Amino acid sequence: MWLETQRLLLREFRQDDYRELAPIQANPQVMKFSQTGILSTSQTKEKIENFITSYKQFGFGKWAVILKQSSQLIGYCGIAVEQIDGKNEQEIGYRLDPRFWSQGLATEAAVGATDYGFAQFKFPYLLGIVERANPASVRVLEKLRMHFERMTVFHGVPMDVYRVDAI
Ligand SMILES: CC(C)(COP(=O)(O)OP(=O)(O)OC[C@H]1O[C@@H](n2cnc3c(N)ncnc32)[C@H](O)[C@@H]1OP(=O)(O)O)[C@@H](O)C(=O)NCCC(=O)NCCS
Repeated sequence: MWLETQRLLLREFRQDDYRELAPIQANPQVMKFSQTGILSTSQTKEKIENFITSYKQFGFGKWAVILKQSSQLIGYCGIAVEQIDGKNEQEIGYRLDPRFWSQGLATEAAVGATDYGFAQFKFPYLLGIVERANPASVRVLEKLRMHFERMTVFHGVPMDVYRVDAI
């Protein structure tokens, strides 16, 4: 899988990407809304292993986000299968290095990933699952044309479910 947007490349993770992803996931600012809290290097390695398993199982997963200008890995964005209210759903997720926030990059990556998902896998809809207290993430979902659908409890945390249907 290889996807290009104006400023970004999205590609499948490789094991050795942990070197660039681990410092991002060890940053409390990035992990503020994650139930896991900050991740150790070995936890990031495990996460990348899970991403790779998802590619093999479903053909999609969370992809590495590379800034074309510098070839730097600045985070991840992609589609994961998650159990939401007892049902396997396709969920869009993203996490970027704060040095690159507020430049529209998460939106750019997520638009690329959702367009690819709809085109390639014919999903009837995609969900986003987010804490209301995370306005930047809510805003990215809104910019993906997602609408609030319902509240849920996800891994013990009250969350809002957003949805966008295939056109
Ligand atoms: C969520 C995240 C990926 C957004 O990345 P980003 O590249 O800054 O996103 P974008 O620039 O595409 O868009 C962010 C939007 O949120 C808005 N925003 C940012 N902080 C905000 C705040 N505190 N209150 C309200 N809006 C906010 C921005 O103004 C922008 O909206 P706009 O284009 O209408 O002005 C980034 O903050 C992140 O990695 N957070 C930590 C991980 C995380 O929470 N992931 C989501 C879990 S569901």
